[in-house]
Amino acid sequence: MNYKQALNHDIFKSISQSAQDLGVDCYVIGGFVRDLLLERENSKDIDIVAVGSGIELASHVSQSLPNSPKVQIFKTYGTAMLRYNDIDVEFVGARKESYTKDSRNPVVETGTLEDDQNRRDFTINALALSLNEVNYGDLIDPFNGLSDLEKGIIKTPLDPDITFSDDPLRMLRAIRFATQLNFKIEKASFEAIERNKDRIKIITKERIVVELNKILETSKPSTGFKLLEKTGLLEYILPELTALKGIEEIEGQRHKDNFYHTLEVVDNICKTTDNLWLRWAALLHDIGKAPTKKFTKKNGWTFHAHEFVGSKMVYKLFKRLKMPLNDKMKFVQKMVLMSSRPIALASEVTDSAVRRLIFDAGEHVEDLMTLCEADITTKNPKRFRKYHNNFKLVREKISEVEERDRIRNFQPPVTGEEIMRTFNLGPSREIGMIKETIKEAILDGKIPNEHEAAYELMLEKGKKLGLTISNEKEI
Ligand code: CTP
Repeated sequence: MNYKQALNHDIFKSISQSAQDLGVDCYVIGGFVRDLLLERENSKDIDIVAVGSGIELASHVSQSLPNSPKVQIFKTYGTAMLRYNDIDVEFVGARKESYTKDSRNPVVETGTLEDDQNRRDFTINALALSLNEVNYGDLIDPFNGLSDLEKGIIKTPLDPDITFSDDPLRMLRAIRFATQLNFKIEKASFEAIERNKDRIKIITKERIVVELNKILETSKPSTGFKLLEKTGLLEYILPELTALKGIEEIEGQRHKDNFYHTLEVVDNICKTTDNLWLRWAALLHDIGKAPTKKFTKKNGWTFHAHEFVGSKMVYKLFKRLKMPLNDKMKFVQKMVLMSSRPIALASEVTDSAVRRLIFDAGEHVEDLMTLCEADITTKNPKRFRKYHNNFKLVREKISEVEERDRIRNFQPPVTGEEIMRTFNLGPSREIGMIKETIKEAILDGKIPNEHEAAYELMLEKGKKLGLTISNEKEI
């Protein structure tokens, strides 16, 4: 691996020179080195560890760079950061850390490079490259991180119980790296996650969500969610998903395992979209199935109104995980709520049903179709083809109806003001009733989505409601 070339970048030369001026040793460490050796796309974050003061080194480096970029100092952590072009460089003094049982905040002492490597999460993240003149570019690898990179292994440098207990988020990071890099978690580290799983409770929800998002952003998130489930972490983080596990059988009737089905849907959707929130929608589309599951002799297994129940659960789940309760959450709710609508359509594609679908899904109708297509997980090739063909017809019908009727982002062809003017009305419920009548008539295809026809219908409905037009004449 020709990683030494990367160290020719002028930022490394400046850091090296500054460290020499100050008489301290320094190294590139962590994710940047890992990704460089893996020949993954180079990260724009560089971590530098100085055997001495990271803050002093950062200030010195800044002065040596064109335009002396601003140094942000985090005194409590003993770190400093500067941005050079589009690269963020973080400086830290080598340290020893020890943690108390109930806190994420370590007691920090200055230490050697080796102390600093010891406190890192995984052998593949503890690799360091020297920026010192005597051994510039040498790899310092006390835990055989390079060999773990080559073998595809996630393993803690120290006793995994210590590493995970020090910062329990690392349990999630192990799973996230395993998913991103397609690596295996070494047995002892895996078992330590199982043992320490309840320590995840001390981690803030925001940090947990960062890791979940990173898992969802991979091309095969099921790997991560299966590991979360196997280690027992999922139960703490997303119990709505573990509740979907299992197949029940009564009187010879079985339902599918909705947990594994969900993971297949997520993997499917990752092939067609990078939209993180649509991926979240795929992950949560069936969560309403656990609380609504029912068996009756007459109907077998049913999950009545699971889409509605599921969409309500989305709000609670986002709130619990301190995720944004904004339009992203509403989008996920909407996708979950509407997740069965196109399926109902597929058997009989009428114009009015398609118009209603477009009206309700609005600008998200394509995303909804993408979700429904990902939801096809049947292993029967004949059925698989049939369902996909049906959705293809629905998509064709959507574009046809859209072009003709302009239903998406529906704007009523007769406005509230026009109704008020016509009937000399102030704000009143009649206006809403007239608008609703016009909208329904358009969606049902009784009148075209045009002003003239809508105006006629407005007059007709006004008459029925006993309204008079503004020149005082009875209509
Ligand atoms: N690190 C750690 N324990 C953590 C977080 C980070 O030991 N809980 C160390 C690791 O050595 C890691 C480095 O700090 O490589 C930088 O962390 P971070 O920037 O969060 O992660 P990266 O490894 O750079 O990976 P990514 O950018 O994909 O998150």
